[in-house]
Amino acid sequence: MSDGLIARDARFVADAIKIRYTPFVAAGGEGAYLLDESGRRFVDFGAGWAAAGLGYSNEHVKQAVAAQMDKATMAGLLSGINQPAVDLAERLVELIPGDLEKKAWFGLAGSDAAEAAQRMILRATGKPRIISFVGGWHGTTDAMMAMSAHPSLGGTLGGAHVTKVPYPNPYRDPFGGDGTDLTDRCLGYLENYLFKTICPPEQVAAVFVEAVQSDGGDIVPPDDFMPKLRALCDRHGIYLVVDEIKVGLGRTGKWFAFDHAGIEPDFVLLGKSLGGGLPLSSVVGRREVLDFQPGSALFTMAGNANSCAAGLAVLDEIERLDLVERSARNGALLLQRLTDRLMEYEVVGDVRGKGMICGVELVDDRASKEPNTSLPAKIVYRAWELGLILYYAGNWGNVLEITPPLVIDPEAIEAGVDILDRAISDALDGAVSDETVAQFAGW
Ligand SMILES: Cc1ncc(COP(=O)(O)O)c(C=O)c1O
Repeated sequence: MSDGLIARDARFVADAIKIRYTPFVAAGGEGAYLLDESGRRFVDFGAGWAAAGLGYSNEHVKQAVAAQMDKATMAGLLSGINQPAVDLAERLVELIPGDLEKKAWFGLAGSDAAEAAQRMILRATGKPRIISFVGGWHGTTDAMMAMSAHPSLGGTLGGAHVTKVPYPNPYRDPFGGDGTDLTDRCLGYLENYLFKTICPPEQVAAVFVEAVQSDGGDIVPPDDFMPKLRALCDRHGIYLVVDEIKVGLGRTGKWFAFDHAGIEPDFVLLGKSLGGGLPLSSVVGRREVLDFQPGSALFTMAGNANSCAAGLAVLDEIERLDLVERSARNGALLLQRLTDRLMEYEVVGDVRGKGMICGVELVDDRASKEPNTSLPAKIVYRAWELGLILYYAGNWGNVLEITPPLVIDPEAIEAGVDILDRAISDALDGAVSDETVAQFAGW
């Protein structure tokens, strides 16, 4: 049966929407496990690119959506008010710390939230420029591909108004140093060089940043990075937009990744896990910008009652299941087990993470740190054969990304790390051929 489905997927579903690593058929899920068509269970270290924060088949979300659909009010917010959207907006505004007067905007995908934020900020401030970071991923609309600076988005040009700055990557110091004073050198390059040459700060409307840079390689910046970036923005009257689409809502062991720095962003972007499986994204931030021009950033189905009911149920479940604290606790275990088991391999250059997002960076050897671009596809494929789903990411496509559902328990973490260990060993022993992975281009 699954062979037929795989062939029909290849025949009828556009490749433009695919970055496949295996022929896995996602037939179902239970808690933190995925099921294929034969009913085989897989440990899930991907959570659908961090979208399944609550895991699968969450009863509360199912009931909340079913109850809302029974009311048959599917409309978005364009020309009518709906209670789930108003409730969710209020909840999100209260959830994000700080004293600013905020409101919430709703969209359908992370990309449209980031794009709407850019549009609203540029129009409200009247300033033309944006700063983003090399390796950043803010979405796949043309405007967001141009703002992002991840190599796989480089096929779309544009964004001449966006100045891209090195992200402080402790493992790969962008200035070739040994990682000391990394924040100061990255932000100093922006403030002391770019601001004084090609990018006058009074023309800059906003900085877009990920507090843990995910698709760029699951990079955890130095602790002083976010506070110093906030201070830099304050010095120059620039808005700080923190993209929490992948790492927000508990994943890093705090409600938001920027909470580790104790700062207040001007705008926060949310998506992925917010909808509990339904399309839902949000920009939460300064009222004066989000109210600046009525009707300037809208979609027919944005803020629809069904997605917002799901969003409310997701927030309830994060609280009820204590998922923020669990991410901190189980994330520490995950990082420890990955480090203990995988640093044995010379091809593993670095293991890092914060809560339930970890990266395992593959290199040819530790001394050269040359990115190993052939092994990740083989490891991910072998892991699937052995019963583990994960993906790889990174600027060089050489980082195994580990973002399990937040509901994963220690036993499943141990089981997943066991499989990953064996998958690396098997891949090094030649268990997966070049031809096998050639059809799964990944990134
Ligand atoms: C940090 C970040 N921002 C934005 C996006 C775009 O979200 P979406 O793919 O839902 O449009 C992603 C997607 O991977 C992301 O990781």
